[in-house]
Amino acid sequence: MLEKKTEIPKHIAIIMDGNGRWAKEKNKPRVFGHKAGAEALRKVVTHSKKIGVKYLTVYAFSTENWKRSKEEVEALMLLFKAYISSERKDLLKNKIRFVVSGRKEGVSESLLKAIDSLEEATSKDYEMTLNIAFNYGGRSEIVDAFNKAMATGEKVTEENFSKFLYNQFPDPELLIRTSGEFRISNFLLWQIAYSEIYVTDVYWPDFSEKDLDKAIENFNKRERRFGGRLNAE
Ligand code: IPE
Ligand code: IPE
Ligand code: MG
Repeated sequence: MLEKKTEIPKHIAIIMDGNGRWAKEKNKPRVFGHKAGAEALRKVVTHSKKIGVKYLTVYAFSTENWKRSKEEVEALMLLFKAYISSERKDLLKNKIRFVVSGRKEGVSESLLKAIDSLEEATSKDYEMTLNIAFNYGGRSEIVDAFNKAMATGEKVTEENFSKFLYNQFPDPELLIRTSGEFRISNFLLWQIAYSEIYVTDVYWPDFSEKDLDKAIENFNKRERRFGGRLNAE
């Protein structure tokens, strides 16, 4: 349980990693880990809403994840589609807006349709945004943004650049990566310039409400400087 005075980050971003290793430890196929990962996400979304997070961005499939076996890629596509239909009711009930960020290329028509439909259904009355990075790459996002800007003929500045990105959410204050890996893997390159990074050894399928609270408590101990100096004399 978080203390009352805890500052809840407005935007939390999560690299949900370790599904494969979690399954391997149990002598199960990787897909078993991805299924358990979807369950973990469900819990984390509900908890985030409860504690007052406004934006939750989760990395579900990277532009590099196409390099995995055909079976695994297909299973991930099917799982995402299943997630969209199984979560519809709860997302609407809990006033959670569903947004997907990423490129459309390579994603099936039927999955794109399912995404559109849930995005539309949850776009009106919401208190939290769940942003799923799917077929997402930080570099693709920056390149796409740059091309959009070029098409308008507008000069790009640090201030106006974000309006060409996939979304105009506030930058995440907290970036969590599970499974003990200390890398960004092409996630949110522009937006995490000053995010606080928290890495936990916990594999994503085991990541619970308690682990999210722990990450937030750790975030509360950070001294964010943004290049300046606190208590400067
Ligand atoms: C994260 O788990 C889910 C996706 C990248 C789709 P992994 O599948 O990367 O699991 P590990 O890293 O192999 O354990
Ligand atoms: C990052 O995890 C992508 C997602 C969590 C969707 P990966 O497992 O693909 O990253 P690397 O290969 O370890 O860098
Ligand atoms: Mg991984």
